[in-house]
Amino acid sequence: MAKKGYFITFEGADGCGKTTQSKLVQKYLEDRGYNTVWTREPGSIGLGQKIRELLLHYDGDVAPRCEAFLFLADRSQNIENLVKPAIQQGKIVICDRHTDSTIAYQGYGRGENIEQLEYLNNLATGGMKPDLTFVFDVSTDIAMTRVGKEKDRMESAGIEFHKKVRNGYLEIAKQETDRVKVINANNSIEQVFEDTKRILDEFLN
Ligand code: TYD
Repeated sequence: MAKKGYFITFEGADGCGKTTQSKLVQKYLEDRGYNTVWTREPGSIGLGQKIRELLLHYDGDVAPRCEAFLFLADRSQNIENLVKPAIQQGKIVICDRHTDSTIAYQGYGRGENIEQLEYLNNLATGGMKPDLTFVFDVSTDIAMTRVGKEKDRMESAGIEFHKKVRNGYLEIAKQETDRVKVINANNSIEQVFEDTKRILDEFLN
């Protein structure tokens, strides 16, 4: 029987460890015979990588709405060129950040209008939604130590900003309990992976 494709997203504030977990999950799934694709936003392939460079390393002024549109532009490219075709081929797409990042960072963090961002997210994805989303929740103090001294443009936005982002994710999770699962990411990598696997197995069964 052909396996159905799924779209699983990994979310959380900077330093939450989601990239490590998304790679562990990919290996776990591949070992069990699933075909997977790992991608990220911003900047999976091609044009997206150029947009990522602008978003994370442009050192001039970036208007908040311009920032939002760049993330959205990258998203529409990722969905059309990579996510949709892979899902149609029955693969499991693992995406490191997606629509909830825009709501948490540009909405709760920067203060842009959340309803409008939801509308724009929908426009960028053509209405496609993740089947399952993990939010790795970590205290902002721990997260900042994990990020280290070499910070990109977003990571340099300050502790108050990152606290708002974290709370934003928790709000999103409260509103969409079926899709969004919060994992305590203050724990060790191994423990966080165990908690992630439990939810993943339930979802796949
Ligand atoms: P990420 O790839 O997680 O950074 P890193 O490679 O350092 O782990 O994410 C890049 C940054 O972009 C991160 O600070 C979150 C931010 N971001 C937004 O503000 N809005 C968005 O819609 C997305 C996708 C990311």
